[in-house]
Amino acid sequence: MATTVVSATKPHATILSTSQGLPTTEQVRIVTVKEYKEAAQCLAEAFAEDDVARYFIDTEHTEQCTPEEKWKLHVNILEYVVYAHCLKGLVTTIGPNYDCVALWMPPGKNIDDLLTIFRSGMWRLRYQLCSEGKKRFFDEFLPLLHDTKLEVMGDRDDDSYYLVYIGTKSTARGKGYARKLIDNVTKQADAEGRACYLESSNAINPAIYRKLGFEERKKIFLSRAEAPIEMDIMVREPMRPTISSSSLLQGGTTILQATSASAA
Ligand SMILES: CC(C)(COP(=O)(O)OP(=O)(O)OC[C@H]1O[C@@H](n2cnc3c(N)ncnc32)[C@H](O)[C@@H]1OP(=O)(O)O)[C@@H](O)C(=O)NCCC(=O)NCCS
Repeated sequence: MATTVVSATKPHATILSTSQGLPTTEQVRIVTVKEYKEAAQCLAEAFAEDDVARYFIDTEHTEQCTPEEKWKLHVNILEYVVYAHCLKGLVTTIGPNYDCVALWMPPGKNIDDLLTIFRSGMWRLRYQLCSEGKKRFFDEFLPLLHDTKLEVMGDRDDDSYYLVYIGTKSTARGKGYARKLIDNVTKQADAEGRACYLESSNAINPAIYRKLGFEERKKIFLSRAEAPIEMDIMVREPMRPTISSSSLLQGGTTILQATSASAA
């Protein structure tokens, strides 16, 4: 497969995929705002058991809620978040039925403005979450993520790619979908010399993200539930192709390998 590039300046307009020979469903494509429900459904399924996703829904105040009511709230949250990213960020998918979906915030973009909060429906969470859920989401989670990203990225906070969510439906895992969605943007980040940032909410995931060039930088904790919930902060520094020294020994064939630009 050849290069897939997403433009940072016009994320909705430009996706260059030269994955010739592959069916369309196996190529990375941008999700439009009209498809937000399908994309959110994928993430809802992928994060159904995720500790952080459950943190806002499973509180002592929601013990009387039925599983169906909790599921609806879980889906609602993801629909608002996906819609906001369709408006202001970048939402990509791959697979025949939205099998894997990634939400990115490209450099210089955010979903904090009132218009986006209004249009996406995010404002409804003030009424839909229980009082403890609201404290967890608005007073603990969002400020913790914001402050940690600023602390870790420093003056690159607004000049990096932020992988906000990625999820693959359980039936579609292990097919390389998450790798394709992540590679799609990290190639662009590399070309621009920019870093990528993510928070990981599952102990299995850092091993996956390390394979994709991310490194752990910090651990953070959500601490309003009985047991603290740990999240790993990971950063992928931009890599640049360099000519391997071994290429000189191979009859003039140039071998390119990705090397961390900062380490080079
Ligand atoms: C994490 C997740 C997105 C991976 O999706 P996926 O489409 O199955 O991943 P891929 O098939 O593209 O695999 C990517 C790489 O990780 C490796 N990998 C995937 N699952 C793994 C696992 N459970 N343990 C170890 N390595 C794993 C693959 O081998 C692959 O590496 P390779 O290309 O070098 O062989 C998926 O498991 C998921 O949705 N999990 C639940 C939601 C979640 O936790 N999302 C991330 C939030 S931070």
